[in-house]
Amino acid sequence: MDYHQIANQKQKKKYKCTRKCAIGSLLILSIFVIITVSILIILLLSRKATRTRSVAVPILRWNTTGITVAGISRVLGNSSDQLNRPLHVILDYLNTLYIADSDNNRVQKYLKNATNGTTVAGNSTAGSYPNQLDDPSSLLVDETGDLFVADSLNNRIQFWPFLSMSGTTVAGNSSGFPGNTNNTLFNPYDVVRDSKTGTLYITDFSNHRIMSHASGASSGNIVAGGNGAGLNNTQLNYPIRCYLDSALTSFIIINMDNNNIDRSTSTLFRTPRALTLDPMGNLYVADRDNHRIQFFLNGQSNGTTIAGITGISGNNTNLLSKSRSVILDSQLNLYNRHR
Ligand SMILES: *[C@@H]1O[C@H](CO)[C@@H](O)[C@H](O)[C@H]1NC(C)=O
Ligand SMILES: *[C@@H]1O[C@H](CO)[C@@H](O)[C@H](O)[C@H]1NC(C)=O
Ligand SMILES: *[C@@H]1O[C@H](CO)[C@@H](O)[C@H](O)[C@H]1NC(C)=O
Ligand SMILES: *[C@@H]1O[C@H](CO)[C@@H](O)[C@H](O)[C@H]1NC(C)=O
Ligand SMILES: *[C@@H]1O[C@H](CO)[C@@H](O)[C@H](O)[C@H]1NC(C)=O
Ligand SMILES: *[C@@H]1O[C@H](CO)[C@@H](O)[C@H](O)[C@H]1NC(C)=O
Ligand SMILES: *[C@@H]1O[C@H](CO)[C@@H](O)[C@H](O)[C@H]1NC(C)=O
Ligand SMILES: *[C@@H]1O[C@H](CO)[C@@H](O)[C@H](O)[C@H]1NC(C)=O
Ligand SMILES: *[C@@H]1O[C@H](CO)[C@@H](O)[C@H](O)[C@H]1NC(C)=O
Ligand SMILES: *[C@@H]1O[C@H](CO)[C@@H](O)[C@H](O)[C@H]1NC(C)=O
Repeated sequence: MDYHQIANQKQKKKYKCTRKCAIGSLLILSIFVIITVSILIILLLSRKATRTRSVAVPILRWNTTGITVAGISRVLGNSSDQLNRPLHVILDYLNTLYIADSDNNRVQKYLKNATNGTTVAGNSTAGSYPNQLDDPSSLLVDETGDLFVADSLNNRIQFWPFLSMSGTTVAGNSSGFPGNTNNTLFNPYDVVRDSKTGTLYITDFSNHRIMSHASGASSGNIVAGGNGAGLNNTQLNYPIRCYLDSALTSFIIINMDNNNIDRSTSTLFRTPRALTLDPMGNLYVADRDNHRIQFFLNGQSNGTTIAGITGISGNNTNLLSKSRSVILDSQLNLYNRHR
């Protein structure tokens, strides 16, 4: 007996319906069942989706072969195509590269694809005059091309207006004297800026603290640490880099002597030196003594190596040596400064 026969018998018994009428009812019933089941499935799926808040996992891959974009591999020097212990590299919105060429006491600017740089801050001789720098260790460039430099051995943060031949001090003692008061610094290593308010955040390395300096203020405030080197939650241990995420929802500090970064529970870092976030919130860490760049999807604590080979230091194109800096340009190309 098939469906039609059963249906026909039932229909005949109950309503003495015609064959046509029975087929019609069955059709309507089937459509009703299909619609109900579909609605239930859609409801279930949408509920599950809101419960797990499933995020699309981006697929990001980088070429494992790198190219040198500034400096000459294995050569230290002060000519315009050379660098000497570059400590920091940043990009502006035009993908112009700025490099803290620390042992040359200058900041070099490289236009996209240029092999030679031009000096935009410092006169190459270490000193504390306004036209000089002493071991610049961190840079930031604002929307108008003005530059902020962490002038680490001068214990000050210098502001170099676009195309200017000299800088002015915006934090720390302008003559280069160290101190631990609110208007002095001791080896400021990194400086970041909240672009909405203009407030600077400074990793005050040898004072084991992070200072904030409101735009135009001659004195700062302690925002973290300042209680000696240590591991308790009121202390920092030689903070070397800090990172303010674009949404200002988190502030990440890298301590020189702790082999971890708060957002990541990975214990596999060996002296992490820098990090950055992409617009999707994925984290990139320059894992210095493992000679690699680790990549963490947003919210995940397990990383993958996207540049370098763990534990192998080298100077060919697929290896890194003491990776200390990691940045991304607008196309998510990765720039890393290593030895
Ligand atoms: C990776 O980069 C190297 C060097 O620039 C280049 O020769 C190679 O074609 C690239 N590979 C891919 C898959 O893009
Ligand atoms: C780059 O600098 C080197 C060394 O100073 C110089 O010989 C060379 O001509 C420069 N190249 C360009 C394109 O300016
Ligand atoms: C830089 O070089 C790349 C690859 O050779 C090229 O596609 C790009 O147009 C160049 N950009 C500039 C600004 O010269
Ligand atoms: C640049 O290097 C040359 C050669 O090593 C050296 O003679 C010169 O003094 C250096 N210049 C500065 C400003 O340090
Ligand atoms: C840099 O400036 C200082 C102070 O004005 C000066 O003494 C020094 O000779 C300058 N160095 C160079 C290489 O011009
Ligand atoms: C910088 O420090 C020196 C030594 O403590 C002091 O004499 C000088 O007045 C300070 N400069 C400023 C602008 O506070
Ligand atoms: C220095 O900053 C701290 C923390 O922001 C504040 O509590 C303290 O009063 C300041 N000290 C002076 C002398 O202004
Ligand atoms: C952290 O260490 C400092 C210096 O030893 C001490 O003064 C402070 O009370 C400690 N804080 C906590 C929360 O343990
Ligand atoms: C993290 O990666 C390691 C090495 O690949 C693996 O053994 C471990 O199970 C992973 N942990 C998690 C939580 O995925
Ligand atoms: C660069 O690599 C070559 C080959 O591995 C090695 O002989 C040389 O010592 C390396 N140079 C530096 C400065 O690490």
